[in-house]
Amino acid sequence: MSEDKSVRAPGGSEAAEVDGWHAIPRSDRGEAFEQVVRRAISRRRLFQGTAAAALIVYLPRVGQDRTVPPPTAFRPSDFSPIPGDGLDRVRVAAGHSIDVILRWGDPVLPHAPPFDPAAQSPDAQAAQFGFNCDYVGFFPLPRVPGRADRGLLVVNHEYTNPELMFPDYDPLTPRVWQIDTELAAHGMSIVDMRLGDDGRWRRIADSGLNRRITGTTPIAITGPAAGHPLMRTSADPTGRTVLGTLGNCSAGRTPWGTVLSAEENFHLYFGNRDRLSRGDTRRDFHARYGVPRQVSRWGFERAHPRFDIGVEPNEAFRFGWVVEVDPYDPEWIPRKRTALGRIRREAATSVVAPDGRLVMYSGDDIAFEYIYKFVTRQPWSPGDRAANRDLLDDGTLYVARFDHDGGGLWLPLTYGAPGLGPYDGFHSQADVLINTVRAADRLGATRMDRPEDIEISPIDGHVFVALTKNPLRGVEGSPPADATNPRAKNRSGHVLELVERDGDHAATRFTWSFFLLCGDPDDEGTYFAGFDRRQVSAIACPDNLAFDRAGNLWIATDGQPEALGMNDGLYSVPVTGPQRGHVKRFFSAVPGAEVTGPEFTPDDTTLFLSVQHPGEGSRLDAPTSTWPDGTSPPRPSVVAIRADGGGPVGRSGA
Ligand code: FEO
Ligand code: CA
Ligand code: CA
Ligand code: CA
Repeated sequence: MSEDKSVRAPGGSEAAEVDGWHAIPRSDRGEAFEQVVRRAISRRRLFQGTAAAALIVYLPRVGQDRTVPPPTAFRPSDFSPIPGDGLDRVRVAAGHSIDVILRWGDPVLPHAPPFDPAAQSPDAQAAQFGFNCDYVGFFPLPRVPGRADRGLLVVNHEYTNPELMFPDYDPLTPRVWQIDTELAAHGMSIVDMRLGDDGRWRRIADSGLNRRITGTTPIAITGPAAGHPLMRTSADPTGRTVLGTLGNCSAGRTPWGTVLSAEENFHLYFGNRDRLSRGDTRRDFHARYGVPRQVSRWGFERAHPRFDIGVEPNEAFRFGWVVEVDPYDPEWIPRKRTALGRIRREAATSVVAPDGRLVMYSGDDIAFEYIYKFVTRQPWSPGDRAANRDLLDDGTLYVARFDHDGGGLWLPLTYGAPGLGPYDGFHSQADVLINTVRAADRLGATRMDRPEDIEISPIDGHVFVALTKNPLRGVEGSPPADATNPRAKNRSGHVLELVERDGDHAATRFTWSFFLLCGDPDDEGTYFAGFDRRQVSAIACPDNLAFDRAGNLWIATDGQPEALGMNDGLYSVPVTGPQRGHVKRFFSAVPGAEVTGPEFTPDDTTLFLSVQHPGEGSRLDAPTSTWPDGTSPPRPSVVAIRADGGGPVGRSGA
């Protein structure tokens, strides 16, 4: 989502009622920007030596039950960067072509009608590709290592822009059929795709694996919070089944081939928090998560009481989780995994620790929120999918504290630990998980500049974290700049590089440094991992991340029109070698759109991207974008990018 997520503006009316907001010790030292960067650079030299000796475990790139061997040699992208612009057409680096493969409204299920913007309905939409595509995952078919010419595309549909869907939409009086069509446009699409001899990806129309998950699909609730009184509603007195998944932004995959979809801005779907009595603690719980006091953003509560906090105070507790979906098994009911915590989550990136336990990283994408990781109690079982079915229901959730000296600590969010006991208002691990951010407040975690996607380098296991921006940083009444978030009124964002102690992703200590301080390279406040600023492309508001097999980091952006005066795009940057920090613009999107979901096939010959919310900020009668059809309405779509000649995307002759 591209809006400014400042619902908890400190000092504002929301923040005033947030328990503990102002009580946490601040970590700024008021340092000059140059000092901060200089110290980060010297730290990097220090830990370059230790990283070489670190024990590294590689993340499986494809959804098979084994680890893909690491690349043998790093090979930087060698395409020529493109200029940025504000034009209403997509553009990619020379030597590549773009194919639009899945558009909002395209048929997914066999009985789906063709897209007709004048004849939309909930039933049609529930069988068609949803709105605002975000995460894209490629799951090979058959499920064997390296298969790259057929696979299931798993796509998140984060939210809706009803003003760009329905010609007669009135936000003050949305109609029930419009709301139900929007609910059907949320969730996920799973689409069986095959690469033709002509180099184009096409849907296999009659595949039994094609599937839609929507805002009303039954989903099981598992883990410590399942069945908790706060998870029970009038429609589900057991607290173990919820209808739908909402706000699905970025995602990740497990080594056993399931997808972990992150419910991000769930709070915006619920209205009328103020109808709860002042003595009801749930009113405070919802306030901490930014649930609106009155009307919700989309007004779904007008049609469905479950979105009205005054009628159904607990329904919102059933969102904000990681949803595990098995794209290979339509019969397996998706699970909301409560052990992983409840946040407005971007990303669910997993990696295997040396002892076989699974580690999953996430960010809470709100201004001044936190970074988390979860470590399973048991190791995963390669070659036995069934044995991993409940792995994510038991483990330890941590929140990150970044220290001034470049060190950091993962603080366990475990019931009974200091600050998380009955005197603090927590009576069980379920209490801690349902109110994850409240628990993190108690531990003194570090408030970040909107953590978005997180990825692990396949070269050395370093953890890269995108912090998209935070214009509120350092303004009056807000937390000031600090060592890890060094820029006041941070409009362009930054990328951190974390090294877990001894290369063990399950470790509780890490070191950190800056990889990028984004912005216009003419601005002396930018930093590109030490690379010559005069040679890089301008980049701002890093959001979704991906690594290719050769170890190049790819960064999709969300917010460049405001920060740089150009459309959002996709960039490639080596994270090691002499080209480290050499950011180059590879792809440029259209007005109003952000770029999301970069995903490579296992051989890197296709790069899938989502172009989300083209034309956002305008209306159907005068859209700022008519992409991709050249007519209104604009349609959020997934594109496939391939190199002319069929080699790896972005690298010639590799
Ligand atoms: Fe959906 Fe954090 O962007
Ligand atoms: Ca974003
Ligand atoms: Ca995002
Ligand atoms: Ca990613």
